[in-house]
Amino acid sequence: MRYRQYGNTQLKVSEMCFGTMRYASKEGIPDDTSKAGKQALEEAIEQGINFIHSSYEYGTRWLTGDVLKNHPKRHEFHHIIKVNVPDWGEPRFEEPAFRKQIEDALRELHADQIAVVQHLQRGKLDRALGYCQEGEPQRINEFQPVLDDLLAAFSKLREEGKVQYLATFPYTVGYARRAIESGAFSGVVAYFDVLETEMLDLFPLMKEKGMGFIGIRPLAAGLLSNRRIDRSSLPEGDRFREEQWDRFYDQLNEFRSTLSEEPDSWSEFALRFALADPLITSNVVSINNTEQLHTALNAVSGTYPDEKILQAAHRINTSYREKFGVKANAAGVPIY
Ligand SMILES: NC(=O)c1ccc[n+]([C@@H]2O[C@H](COP(=O)([O-])OP(=O)(O)OC[C@H]3O[C@@H](n4cnc5c(N)ncnc54)[C@H](OP(=O)(O)O)[C@@H]3O)[C@@H](O)[C@H]2O)c1
Repeated sequence: MRYRQYGNTQLKVSEMCFGTMRYASKEGIPDDTSKAGKQALEEAIEQGINFIHSSYEYGTRWLTGDVLKNHPKRHEFHHIIKVNVPDWGEPRFEEPAFRKQIEDALRELHADQIAVVQHLQRGKLDRALGYCQEGEPQRINEFQPVLDDLLAAFSKLREEGKVQYLATFPYTVGYARRAIESGAFSGVVAYFDVLETEMLDLFPLMKEKGMGFIGIRPLAAGLLSNRRIDRSSLPEGDRFREEQWDRFYDQLNEFRSTLSEEPDSWSEFALRFALADPLITSNVVSINNTEQLHTALNAVSGTYPDEKILQAAHRINTSYREKFGVKANAAGVPIY
């Protein structure tokens, strides 16, 4: 396993971060999904993954807690957690809500400390509009008052030894720029994969500021995996057959036509792409079973695509964003 430094901080984590959103039953039941997920997490730790992403919103912390409770590597492990205050429609930052999310996570994960607090200022961000620009000016207007309260609350928790670094999950490029320029964050956490490269334009600024970048969903929620890369072979009823994904398959096909040769394994290519820039500390992938873990381990021991390939994807993605704008998929997940 390769490890990278998170920006200018002391934190060094595995290039692959274990994403826990899909790997267990949300009802706390040890069903087949949870059994496979448990095996995957246990083996991932054995293989050197030391970074794990979680949120109370996923309903899967029960399994992560179960695995980590008495694990001998529990103290060597680094946690990144989502903390969403203010949440949708909430007018302001509330310190008790922020503290509660962190203290709950420490308890549920049997952790001593949260390495990276991934802060989400949802507030006016309009989910119904697909997180598009409509909520953006208000959210950016409220950036400074939220930040002042956030920093005050964060520094108390840091003094108590409960948290280490604060990162922003900006949702939009405009907000990301504002957050980077504030100098308040150690890094940015955002989607980064073959189809979602919009943060690439801000990489030079992040590098200049000594920040880190943590990518999310290297397989574009599964679309870029071997199983789904050929859309015509998907079974009836598969979510990637729905119309909203048309443009992403078009976007992908355009990118595929720029490659000198088709990758042998798209899952591996996509995982490598998501780590291709040295700014990227780690990328958070949902690993649901040991088979997926083995593919991912193989991917991160290989050679990563070069800058020309990143830029080719980025040019195509930018032209699609200009044509279609920012849209959410059915799950309300913004995908550009
Ligand atoms: N706002 C946020 O902070 C936010 C939002 C979304 C996600 N996340 C985090 O990011 C993580 C990843 O998100 P995601 O699940 O949407 O996207 P992803 O990691 O890009 O896609 C995961 C899906 O791809 C398939 N897959 C995974 N590993 C594979 C492999 N090695 N080979 C082939 N297929 C593989 C699996 O689908 P099948 O099992 O169905 O084949 C898996 O569910 C989540 O677990 C969560 O921790 C954070």
